[in-house]
Amino acid sequence: MLQRLENEARLTEEAHRLYGLLKSVSKEDGSPWTYDDCLAAAPYTLSINRFKKEQNAVILAHSYTTPDLVYGVADYRGDSYELALKARETSADIIVFAGVWFMAETAKILNPDKKVLIPAGRAGCTLADAMTGEDMQKLRAQYPGVPALCYINSLAEVKAQCDACVTSGNVFDIAQKIPGKELIFVPDLLMAENLEAELERRGTPKKIISAGGSCCVHDKYRPENVQKLRANYPGIKVVAHPECPIEVCRLCDYVGSTKGMSGYVAQSEATCFGMLTEFGLVNRLEAEHPDKKFIWPFGVCRYMKQNTLANTLEALIDPRPEQVVEVAPALAAAAKKSIDKMFELTQ
Ligand code: 13P
Ligand code: SF4
Repeated sequence: MLQRLENEARLTEEAHRLYGLLKSVSKEDGSPWTYDDCLAAAPYTLSINRFKKEQNAVILAHSYTTPDLVYGVADYRGDSYELALKARETSADIIVFAGVWFMAETAKILNPDKKVLIPAGRAGCTLADAMTGEDMQKLRAQYPGVPALCYINSLAEVKAQCDACVTSGNVFDIAQKIPGKELIFVPDLLMAENLEAELERRGTPKKIISAGGSCCVHDKYRPENVQKLRANYPGIKVVAHPECPIEVCRLCDYVGSTKGMSGYVAQSEATCFGMLTEFGLVNRLEAEHPDKKFIWPFGVCRYMKQNTLANTLEALIDPRPEQVVEVAPALAAAAKKSIDKMFELTQ
């Protein structure tokens, strides 16, 4: 009886902790996170946080995963660059990466001797899945001598054939540092257009040669979405990710990585923001700026959302084979060079 009461007290305490963090966060249907949602999450977050400690594991969560993961169990939350950096620096024995496959794969490449787990299993990304190593090999053969950058949203076999990898947070600065008038940038055709325009704007133009595909979330935004936001919310500031089409980015007040967009919102005196990006970032901003208003037309990454509290717990207790990240050593060593180059060029 006493034991049961103690358990109930711990669950109530955890639900209150979660509710304190999530009470200003909305769900996809517009309704808010409730105390009952937090009470339902509490047994998972308590167990995950206990197993994490016992196993000396660290949980890295991308801002596009769900807020119960981001605020309930993650040790670090952030954009692709910040999380790659954390993965590189951690002294934990196990890395649990709540994100998509290329992110966990990058963590494994940086930590060949550690156990790296991804709760969502082989959760893809329409960008990373748009290009194979063979495609990259052909492209490089077609443009001999032209330097090549790849977006971190790419497979290890593509990274292995590039001079450096980049994230949305450092792509413009790194591209500017690469000598020459031509540059290969893969596998995001839309970001390639934004990159060419930004280099032109900075007075360091380059012809960008690209191949690959687009992000199935960000490629759906259109100029009409920006126009509608401005018409319906006078004074609104509209922000977008550089994976959006260039004609959309041109109309926005700020274009940048998930970290960049958060920084823009934090420093802005505006109180209302139009968010042309994935819903998870909207949730982070709602949690961290309850005094500001965020208007989100649409955009959910079904791959990121495959990470849940339940499969995070499963990965920690007894991972399924697809939750354990493995990269062949020779491939990892080749891909690591382009990742290390990114860290070097970001200094
Ligand atoms: P960030 O590096 O900006 O977090 O972007 C990752 C991503 O997958 C965007 O769709
Ligand atoms: Fe890939 Fe787009 Fe999802 Fe980011 S939001 S992981 S780019 S599909």
